[in-house]
Amino acid sequence: MRLDVVSIFPDYLAPLDLSLIGKARRDGLLDLHVHDLRDFTHDRHRTVDDTPYGGGAGMVMKPQPWSEALDHVLAQGKSIDATGRRRVPTLIVPGPGGEPFTQAIARELADEPWLAFACGRYEGIDERVYEWAGERMPVRVLSLGDYVLNGGEVAVLAMVEAIARLLPGVIGNAESLVEESHEDGLLEYPVYTKPATWDGREVPEVLLGGNHAAIATWRHQQRVERTAARRPDLLPPAAATSALGELEER
Ligand code: ADE
Repeated sequence: MRLDVVSIFPDYLAPLDLSLIGKARRDGLLDLHVHDLRDFTHDRHRTVDDTPYGGGAGMVMKPQPWSEALDHVLAQGKSIDATGRRRVPTLIVPGPGGEPFTQAIARELADEPWLAFACGRYEGIDERVYEWAGERMPVRVLSLGDYVLNGGEVAVLAMVEAIARLLPGVIGNAESLVEESHEDGLLEYPVYTKPATWDGREVPEVLLGGNHAAIATWRHQQRVERTAARRPDLLPPAAATSALGELEER
């Protein structure tokens, strides 16, 4: 998978050299290119922002550096795919006003050969850039959650990690992807390791017995209870009510 990231803080993306994502890059599974938006400005101060039309607080990112930066990214797709079309990336613009980024979207994006990310800062990017980009490639505005970050870079770190770990060969133990939170709509069960007693606290008896059916039942029950307690919005309304009722009866 090829990834292009455009940002005024390329150094923010340095952690993508570390850990499993860094190894995936070294193994050739991820081809990551980070571009400095200021390289696409033409004035002495390398200006990327200006005051908003209509007034209001803060600054808005100018359209011209973005179109040049994205043209530069598009020019990397010279290779022709099997159907003879020129390949273009899907452009992802992280922002608090986007569609929520979920595990299902991470899975969809993990199937794509090429993703580009545009990291906005300040009050955002001039709206005409979204139109311009949408005429050239699919564009998705995605939000990490209902809170505001200072820019898209931290969101890109999170999204790239969520997407890249789904690529074949990135995670050594593919089984660990199956039983995760958000893969099947339930949160994960609690996990324990040795010693069996620590700080006077015991590991649940059922996990020590080797009865695999009993362990599976216990784990499923824990997942339902946890989901009902922490994320009732993930459960169908009736299931949430009954699981919480069971919890309260204890
Ligand atoms: N940029 C600023 N806030 C953000 C958020 N919540 N998600 C994604 N990108 C953002």
